[in-house]
Amino acid sequence: ADIDLQQIHDTLLSVAFEAGRMILAANPHDISTGTKMNSADIVTETDQAVESMVSTTLQRAYPSFQFVGEETFVAGSTHITDAPTFVVDPIDGTTNFVHGFPHVCISLGFVVGRVPSVGVVYNPFLDVLYTGVRGGGSFVQRNASLAGTPAAGPRQRLPLAGGGGALGDLSSTLVAVEWGSQRDGENFELRARVFRALTASKQNGGGSMVHSLRSLGSAALNLCACAAGQVDIYWEGGCYAWDVAAGWCILNEAGGRMVSGNPGGWDTQLDSRVYLAVRGASSGQEAIVEEFWKVIGDGKME
Ligand code: IPD
Repeated sequence: ADIDLQQIHDTLLSVAFEAGRMILAANPHDISTGTKMNSADIVTETDQAVESMVSTTLQRAYPSFQFVGEETFVAGSTHITDAPTFVVDPIDGTTNFVHGFPHVCISLGFVVGRVPSVGVVYNPFLDVLYTGVRGGGSFVQRNASLAGTPAAGPRQRLPLAGGGGALGDLSSTLVAVEWGSQRDGENFELRARVFRALTASKQNGGGSMVHSLRSLGSAALNLCACAAGQVDIYWEGGCYAWDVAAGWCILNEAGGRMVSGNPGGWDTQLDSRVYLAVRGASSGQEAIVEEFWKVIGDGKME
């Protein structure tokens, strides 16, 4: 049977607002944290409570669909298949959440045949909502929880005005990157080398390799910033499908493109864990990808 993506979008919206209320209600002074891989890989009780609310609600509404969430994922035994699947990060930007840095969101993705088909990314602290439905465009709305009242912002189509023009060369781009939570190993070294190379002066003629680097601390919000045209490129290795599934749909619908963060990967998979996003542009997308891959050289993120 055909899947009604719009209906899924509407369900995900109400789940996102409910999650937003739970996230805002968590008293920052009582956020107790635990760690996963190391002391930089944080999880809170709120991450777990939100995921449990989201999975219960979605499994009740769509009992035949699969559910993959960050907090219940088991490495080696949880796989994303071709089946219709919700791919959810209850709190993307957990470190921001713990520190009160307001770039925190719930990231709700829906994939069919592993293709990102609905994306809802909601930041309850700034009350900003990003949405995308495959074939239906993507949008941002401010004061989103006030929808239906005059105080809600307009639903603006992405990319925002001023975005979407031709991409020049790398030296005129604003690039989002993330440290992730690994603090050693080959990925870490490669990342450090690439960050250094991106901010280094160009060898001949001076000037910088890129305008600058930005890190919002949330993969989903970096992808939304790219969809909006606020950053030109976003590169990260080490995050997971739930960090990118929703934002990927929003990016695609804004004319953006996702390729592999490792050189040569024009077709990349949802669970490749190495991503390079480029904003929608009237021209220059492929050229900027090639330029960026050149900076990476023969390094490879795992
Ligand atoms: C993290 C954020 C961060 C990225 C990490 C992710 P979490 O997700 O998206 O920006 O660098 O790779 O794990 O842990 O806050 O859900």
